[in-house]
Amino acid sequence: MGKKVKKESETPCKETLQLKPLPVEGQTPATVVLLLSCPEEDILVKACEAIHTFAEKGDENKVSLLGLGALEPLCQLITHNNKLIRRNAFMALGIMATNVDFVCKVKISDNKGLPPLIQLLSSPDSNDKKNSLEIIFNLVQDHQSRLALHELGGIPPLLELLKSDFPVIQHLVLKTLQNVTTDTDTCNTFREEQGFEKLMDILSNMDFRDLHAEALQVVANCLSDSKSLQLIHKGGGLTRLMESVLTPNLPEIQSNAVKCIARVAQSSENRKLLHGQNVEKILVELLSVAAISVKTATCQAVSVMSFHLASKDSFRDLAVVQLLNNESLELKEAATQALSNLTHSNQLNAFAVYEAGGDEILVQQLYGTCRRTVANSAVTLGNMAGQEVIHCSIFSHGAKQAQVEPLQSTDTQVLINTTLCLTMLACDTEARAELQSAGGPLVNLLRSYHKEVLHHACLAINVCASDVNAAVEMCQFGALEMLQEIKGAISASWP
Ligand SMILES: *[C@@H]1O[C@H](CO)[C@@H](O)[C@H](O)[C@H]1NC(C)=O
Ligand SMILES: *[C@@H]1O[C@H](CO)[C@@H](O)[C@H](O)[C@H]1NC(C)=O
Ligand SMILES: *[C@@H]1O[C@H](CO)[C@@H](O)[C@H](O)[C@H]1NC(C)=O
Ligand SMILES: *[C@@H]1O[C@H](CO)[C@@H](O)[C@H](O)[C@H]1NC(C)=O
Repeated sequence: MGKKVKKESETPCKETLQLKPLPVEGQTPATVVLLLSCPEEDILVKACEAIHTFAEKGDENKVSLLGLGALEPLCQLITHNNKLIRRNAFMALGIMATNVDFVCKVKISDNKGLPPLIQLLSSPDSNDKKNSLEIIFNLVQDHQSRLALHELGGIPPLLELLKSDFPVIQHLVLKTLQNVTTDTDTCNTFREEQGFEKLMDILSNMDFRDLHAEALQVVANCLSDSKSLQLIHKGGGLTRLMESVLTPNLPEIQSNAVKCIARVAQSSENRKLLHGQNVEKILVELLSVAAISVKTATCQAVSVMSFHLASKDSFRDLAVVQLLNNESLELKEAATQALSNLTHSNQLNAFAVYEAGGDEILVQQLYGTCRRTVANSAVTLGNMAGQEVIHCSIFSHGAKQAQVEPLQSTDTQVLINTTLCLTMLACDTEARAELQSAGGPLVNLLRSYHKEVLHHACLAINVCASDVNAAVEMCQFGALEMLQEIKGAISASWP
């Protein structure tokens, strides 16, 4: 207070200071922003503080600070020699970076804010590291800033910080990595900078258990290409993942580890490897684990592993059908997906699902609200319909009525899968007569502009039309005219 101002300075702070005994308080935001370029350290401390307080009051204030050009000086002040200035500038910038829309984040990148922030990741001062990490984490919620962080060389110093003695810093690094590794180029750099090895070190250290769930999520993000898969396999990572999967009572770790396994299982080579390590047994065990997230992730892994024929057989007695009684929509979706895969071209599995009462539960799913669950259930029923005893059972549970609604869906996947199911179900005379009531909605599908929907509708109509009554009914709905129109359109496009 009452500080003397250097005469030679022509900066705005000079004027205001001469006029006011209290240099910052009571000033307009515009003036405070100008003060950010003042050489006086005490004033800078206060100006940053005032900006922080003002920005904290709401997004409108942040936007007006943006308009006043507050970001550029703030981005410079975070590297100031004075620790207090640095801290206050960080706080002000930090609050700006949490703007609900992305304007501020983009502007911070535009104002050359990222290079000093990245530089501070290697600062000897742990507070600097933590403060810049916090801002970087907020910035990378925006796609553009994620790319910029990578381009500006932010990944190596970030990985270096995994070794920090401060758990709060390690958490922030992992949370940031979780976001930035959604980008392929960033994953490549992550791999080249020994990111996997560093994460495996964390995963092997039981003192770092609280970091494992986050670390596994990063691993899962980066496991999408074959180079990473080889790397993880060579480094004994697969065994580590299997161990993480079985970590008792820590569902977040387990579900993320299962996600990693599902990623690894994307290639047929790896599926063989996983099969060799008896992954099926582990997955079966996991299905009895209480947490929904683990069961859901496990169903997804089962779906992928089903590409491997030997695995498909070893899942035969899996209690997936029981999961459909659960109220979780996500779990139902994943479970019906797994069932559709397990029963695809596998009559023994289809029979096992039937024996577990699966056909009745699947018919009920056709009334559900989740489109993917409906689509998956329809396809599974179609897969099962080839065996007569199952076929009869499906009908006895009201399959006919249950299909009418999905046939009027606006979702093409639901339409395709249901018509597929209908075609499979309409394979005998009795069934075709039963399915008459589906005639109207089926004929309506001939109006679709979606090629695949049209194709499947034609197939289903073709099968159903061998029943005279069904054929007559479909003609009453105008099927013949529409089919002729389609034929005309096709010949016109093939001169
Ligand atoms: C970033 O990661 C967090 C988890 O740490 C997640 O909740 C958030 O949705 C991610 N944001 C983006 C944009 O990916
Ligand atoms: C659904 O799963 C959760 C977690 O496994 C369990 O607690 C709940 O009882 C299940 N609900 C039903 C109806 O089975
Ligand atoms: C599993 O289902 C998905 C979606 O229906 C499909 O893309 C995939 O090919 C199926 N896999 C197997 C093994 O049937
Ligand atoms: C059935 O629907 C699902 C969407 O849930 C889709 O992924 C799948 O490919 C469809 N199956 C077939 C055989 O078309």
